[in-house]
Amino acid sequence: MTTLRDDFLWGASSSAHQTEGNNTDADWWEYENLSTPFFPERSGDAVDSYHRYPEDIALLAEAGLNAYRFSIEWSRIEPEDGQFSRAQLDHYRRMIETTREHGLEPVVTLHHFTSPRWFTRAGGWRDPVAVERFSRYVDRVSQILNGVNWVCTINEPNMVALGIRYFDLAIGAADDNANGRLEPDCEVGDVLVRAHREAVEILRTATTARIGWTVAQQAFEGTSGNEDVLARTNHTWEDRYLEGARGDDFFGVQAYTSQRVGPDGPIPHAADPGNTLTGWAYRPDALGAGLRRAWDITEQVPLLVTENGIATSDDSRRIAYTTEALTHLEAAVADGIDVRGYLHWSALDNFEWGRWAPTFGLIGVNRETFARTPKPSLAWLGRVARNNGLEPPVGLPR
Ligand code: BGC
Repeated sequence: MTTLRDDFLWGASSSAHQTEGNNTDADWWEYENLSTPFFPERSGDAVDSYHRYPEDIALLAEAGLNAYRFSIEWSRIEPEDGQFSRAQLDHYRRMIETTREHGLEPVVTLHHFTSPRWFTRAGGWRDPVAVERFSRYVDRVSQILNGVNWVCTINEPNMVALGIRYFDLAIGAADDNANGRLEPDCEVGDVLVRAHREAVEILRTATTARIGWTVAQQAFEGTSGNEDVLARTNHTWEDRYLEGARGDDFFGVQAYTSQRVGPDGPIPHAADPGNTLTGWAYRPDALGAGLRRAWDITEQVPLLVTENGIATSDDSRRIAYTTEALTHLEAAVADGIDVRGYLHWSALDNFEWGRWAPTFGLIGVNRETFARTPKPSLAWLGRVARNNGLEPPVGLPR
């Protein structure tokens, strides 16, 4: 039986744009309202967590979880260049305090995919002053982080560097989609590493939090004869961001699936009835692979699973997937890897970046009434949390 740390975090994750609703000053709002095939659906009211976050937090706490990861929306804090909103800073401060009042540890992300429209219009991460602009926001937001112990600077910079290529296509600034095999833009990736390093410095001075960032890990698997492509793929997609985390206080592992790599790079997931609602292969073992690779490449930065989960309408499959993923986490811990917690993606069914159908939530939401309905998986994960691990076996709630 694997013993997890007494202070192991058991929680769920969310992000502002996917849950709050009416994030009208964010660049994503602009993209999703272009009516392009890239983003067929809009966030709109999302699941109204901007107003209903106390209920969301209470549900997680009642289930027995002890942590909640959420993000602060830059475009609300700084809706125009250099204009900061005191009221919005207060809103997120209340969110931090509400999390604490419910006995949950807040894990706060400062950038989760969305940037203010003015920032992106001015060139976004390609603008020479991008890092300076992000640092100014980080500095301002650090003022409300008193008592927060975990801060993620930027969520999935590798997906930000990839996403920028899709935005280019969506707005007509590029027309070559590389036969559907776009890769993260390495120049943007370098800027994001610099932005992270500066943010770490600012936050280390201004707060007592542990600081890290989170990276999407694909558990890439080579195919025979393509070892060099695998190495290059790992570097372009992930390792440069893992290397950028060396010396941090923690590193956020985000793992969902595994992808094979052929002569032309990552091979798109083949259609399969076992695939999840995002079309990804069902690979709960990806979490173990992600933890091991992160531990290795970061040179042993303590790990926090900041996202892991499955898009499915069958909640028993969510429990099966998570059970297996956690066996891989416990095996990694048994092998000496320092894992500080497990935060499931996602707390709620929410806006999956242009689509609503892939449901990752532990809590279902009626999008007409915004009524929340906890799924059996929430109670199940709460019991795993109270147990601090899978052993003794945690059955389905009655
Ligand atoms: C992101 C989340 C997203 C999830 C599932 C991660 O890439 O951080 O915002 O919803 O994976 O696709």
